[in-house]
Amino acid sequence: MARPLFQALPGTRDILAPDSQRMRALVEVFAEEAELAGFGQIVPPMFEDIGVFTRIGDSTDIVTKELYDFEDNGGRRIALRPEFTASVCRAYVQSRPVPPWKAWYAGPAFRQEKAQKGRYRQFDQVGAEVIGSHDPDLDTELIAMAAGFYKRLGLTDVTLLVNTLGDKADRPGYLDALRTYFGEHLDALSEQSRTTLAINPLRVLDSKRPNDAEIVAGAPVLLDYISDDAAKAYGRVIDGLSTLSIPFVEAPRLVRGLDYYTRTTFEFASNALEAAQNAVGGGGRYDGLVADLGGPEDPGVGFALGVDRTLLACDAEGVFGAVVPTPDLFVVATTEGTEALALTQELRAEGWRVERAYDGRSMKAQMKAANKSGAPVALIVGESEATDGTVSVRPMGEGDQVVVPRPELIPQLKELLP
Ligand code: HAM
Repeated sequence: MARPLFQALPGTRDILAPDSQRMRALVEVFAEEAELAGFGQIVPPMFEDIGVFTRIGDSTDIVTKELYDFEDNGGRRIALRPEFTASVCRAYVQSRPVPPWKAWYAGPAFRQEKAQKGRYRQFDQVGAEVIGSHDPDLDTELIAMAAGFYKRLGLTDVTLLVNTLGDKADRPGYLDALRTYFGEHLDALSEQSRTTLAINPLRVLDSKRPNDAEIVAGAPVLLDYISDDAAKAYGRVIDGLSTLSIPFVEAPRLVRGLDYYTRTTFEFASNALEAAQNAVGGGGRYDGLVADLGGPEDPGVGFALGVDRTLLACDAEGVFGAVVPTPDLFVVATTEGTEALALTQELRAEGWRVERAYDGRSMKAQMKAANKSGAPVALIVGESEATDGTVSVRPMGEGDQVVVPRPELIPQLKELLP
C-alpha cells in the first residue's frame, strides 16, 4: 500500500473501535467509582495560560521541556495541559466551590516526550482531586478508590508504592542532607543528575538511569527529617491502608515527576509492563498549589491514572478485553425501493442494534454479510415481500424462516429477541 499523504504525528494515534469502546467503558467504570465516593465531574479546558502549568514546578521536565506552548492571536502565552491538577486548582480558585471539593475528570493530556510504547505525546488520564481538607483519611480514601478501580478492571499485578514528602518547612533540612550526600558521590552520578542536583536535589531521587540507582539507594530518607505532624499524618494513612486491607510497599525514596507534592505521595506500578513505562498511576498531596495559583492556603490531594498504560496492563494480564458488539438484527433487502431504509430506522427506534447491507448487493452477498455480522436473526425483504407487505424472518441458527405481515413484525420480534 502506498504511504498515506498524512499520518498521525509521533506519539499520537487513532484509537478505533473496539478499542475506543473499551476506553469509554474504562472511563465509565471510573465514573461509577468516583461518583460512589461523592465526586462530581469537572471538564476543564484543554489549554490554559502557561502560568497555570509553570506552577507545577520549574525543575520538572514536564514544564521545562515537554509543554506544548504557543502564542494565540491575542498575544497570550498558552499551553496544552500536561496534566489536570493545576487546572482543577485554578478552577477552584476561580469558582470557589464549598470545600472540601471533590472533582473527578477524564480526558487527554499532552507532553512532548520521547514517544515509545506506553509513552505518548497525547495520552488520556482519569483522576480525582479533593481540595480544602487536611484529613489524611482522604489520602487513604483516594488510594482505596484507585486500587478499587484497578481491581474492578480485573488487574491483580499492580504494586502500590507509598511515601511521604513531609511539609515544605521540612524540605530545607532534607535538601541540605541530600546535597551533602550526593556531593560526596558526585563523580559516580550521571551528568544529567549532576545538573538536576544544582536545581532540585529531590529530583535526583527520581533518576531512572542505571548508574545513579546505586547512589540513590543509599541516599538519606525524608522520613527522618519530617515534622511530628507530617509523620502522624503519614502513620494515619499507613494504618488506614492496613485497615482496608490494601497491600502497599513503603518506598521512602519515591519522588514523583511533579514538584508540587507535600506529605503523602503514591504510585501504582504494573508488574506486567516494562519497568520504564510501568507507572500506571500516581498522586499525592499538594498543600501549597492552590495558594501558588493565587488562591487561599487550602490543601489538596488527588491522583491520576494513565488510561493508555492501564489498558496495556489489562492486555498484559488478559483482562478487561474489548467487547465487539454484535447486531441484534440484520436487514437484507433486494428491492429497488426504500424498504431497507425504512425498516432499519424503525427497528433502531425500538432500541435494537441493526445492521444492513448497502450498495444493492446480491441476495447471496447480503446473506453472507448477515452471517458474518453475528446477528441471530436476518430480516429479508425481497420483491414478493415488498408486494405482499410482509418480511421474512430468518433465524441464523436453528429454526425455520417464517413470513410475517409487516404490522405484526415488531410484536413478534419482541418475543423472539430479549
Ligand atoms: P503523573 O505521574 O505525571 O501525575 O501522571 C499520571 C499517570 O499518567 C502516569 O502514572 C502514567 O500512567 C500516565 N502518563 C503520564 N505521562 C504519560 C505519557 N507520556 N504517556 C502515557 N501515559 C502517561 C500527574 O499527572 C498528576 N497530575 C497526578 C496527581 C493528581 N497528583 C495529584 N493529583
